[in-house]
Amino acid sequence: MTDRGLYGRAGNAWSTRLGGDHFHPGGEAATAALLTAARGFGFGAVPFVLDVGCGAGGPARTLARRLGTDVVGVDVGGELLRRAHAAARADELWLRCGFVRATVMSLPFADASVPALWSVGALVHAEVAAALTEVARVAAPGALFALADWVCAEDMTDEDRENVAQLEYRLVPPVAYQAALERAGFAVLLAEPEPPPEPLATVPRDAHAWPTQFLLRFGPRALHAELTRSRAWASLVQRERVAHWRFIARRR
Ligand SMILES: C[S@@+](CC[C@H](N)C(=O)[O-])C[C@H]1O[C@@H](n2cnc3c(N)ncnc32)[C@H](O)[C@@H]1O
Repeated sequence: MTDRGLYGRAGNAWSTRLGGDHFHPGGEAATAALLTAARGFGFGAVPFVLDVGCGAGGPARTLARRLGTDVVGVDVGGELLRRAHAAARADELWLRCGFVRATVMSLPFADASVPALWSVGALVHAEVAAALTEVARVAAPGALFALADWVCAEDMTDEDRENVAQLEYRLVPPVAYQAALERAGFAVLLAEPEPPPEPLATVPRDAHAWPTQFLLRFGPRALHAELTRSRAWASLVQRERVAHWRFIARRR
């Protein structure tokens, strides 16, 4: 996956209008909550943090600002990385936040070289177990990993799976996610569901004209795709078929 579908120009515009530069449920507040949870385990007093699947860089800027540390974000999305660069520059954080185009399946870091790791909503787009193995490869012994990601119910129906297919997720249940972390070489310190954002937004609540603006800019097929995707997501979350979980883990 690169600059198409969910993370194409239209998909990025839709997500940005919903959640700003924090592309996950709960937006910036959820970034702050994960950071608070991670800090409780000592996360942050390190030369740099690696943000895997950094998107448009909202969380990277929050980490740099709040921890006073450097952040390196990697992502496969070219448009998102350009935005991350531009926003960090505008915030005068460009000496603290660097962004590199790379996949989680082949991170541009030496073995055991990364002192702290962060990832939100990204590994689910790859194959979770393989992605975690690669993250574990680059993590230094003792490095903390603050992670939040989508997981699914144990008993997904065919209809659930059709909805998930709209979202480009490769979901596993939380128990399997946690087991994959352990197998990759992490000790899991915290595993819990994040509270779902209230109320769930499928179009921005403050902009009734947004679908029309989107239609004019990207056309009817793109609007249909985003509405279909948003409704599939809302249905899955409301029926508790998928949920966003946070994990804090330490590299053994
Ligand atoms: C839901 S967004 C989250 C972005 C960011 N972590 C945030 O919280 O704002 C998921 C991100 O994962 C990225 N992604 C998807 N597959 C990836 C891969 N194989 N390697 C690295 N990043 C990937 C997407 O381009 C997208 O930016």
